[in-house]
Amino acid sequence: MAEYDPLSELYDFEYTHDYDLPFWLSLAGREAGPVIEWGAGTGRIAAPLAAAGHDVTAVELSRDMVERGREKGQPVEWIVGDMRSVGLGRRYGLAVCAFNSFLCLNSVDDALAFLRNVAEHLMPGGLLGIEVSVFSPEELVDPPYGSGLRHDFTREMPDGWLDRFSVSRYDAATHLMEMRLFYERYDGSGTIVNRRAHDLMIRITNRDELGLMLRLTGFEVDAVYGGFEGEPFTSMSDHLIVLTRK
Ligand SMILES: C[S@@+](CC[C@H](N)C(=O)[O-])C[C@H]1O[C@@H](n2cnc3c(N)ncnc32)[C@H](O)[C@@H]1O
Repeated sequence: MAEYDPLSELYDFEYTHDYDLPFWLSLAGREAGPVIEWGAGTGRIAAPLAAAGHDVTAVELSRDMVERGREKGQPVEWIVGDMRSVGLGRRYGLAVCAFNSFLCLNSVDDALAFLRNVAEHLMPGGLLGIEVSVFSPEELVDPPYGSGLRHDFTREMPDGWLDRFSVSRYDAATHLMEMRLFYERYDGSGTIVNRRAHDLMIRITNRDELGLMLRLTGFEVDAVYGGFEGEPFTSMSDHLIVLTRK
């Protein structure tokens, strides 16, 4: 079972942000098409790109996430597949790997396999945009028993609300961050109707490691930003966005 299958029913309630969309829409308007999103989730980005008239393919490992994405009714070509190895027999002008899908690649070898596969699917001169979160030094310390329990958010749901809590543990030797997410669903009267836990693993990267991996796989870095308004990347940035060409 793909790691995100059990998360698919809650994904669109958890991740309601769209501050990154204008950035990807403007790149799609500027670059040649077609567009491919790698690790597309439920189409949070792919669906609005297709709604704006772009020819969009979305690759996603989790069949359940793809089912949710299809329900959005946009003309996205959905592919259930592994972004490290899937072969689509088509080339794209713009590739997007956004909102930490790149961090789901849990080893350098997996990341390199993905980048080589992206290169196979890009037209000459095609652009790849990768965006990942930047973690603070406090999040990357490794206390003996991991972090304390955090309350991540409360989200309104049609029949009540959802609370998410988490604990995480970062291993500085491997750059792997193990997270245990605790979901509590309440009905409108405040009665808990469901409680469950889910484990996720990501591998933290940084600007220079990513830059080296890109160079190793035949890409040239065009631009590095620290935010979706094109801010410079600094030690205060919350996002790392790299635009790179084959
Ligand atoms: C944090 S979500 C981001 C989804 C989407 N990009 C967004 O902006 O909402 C990461 C997604 O990458 C997918 N993923 C992880 N590893 C993958 C792989 N090897 N191939 C394809 N998709 C993968 C997960 O199933 C998950 O849906």
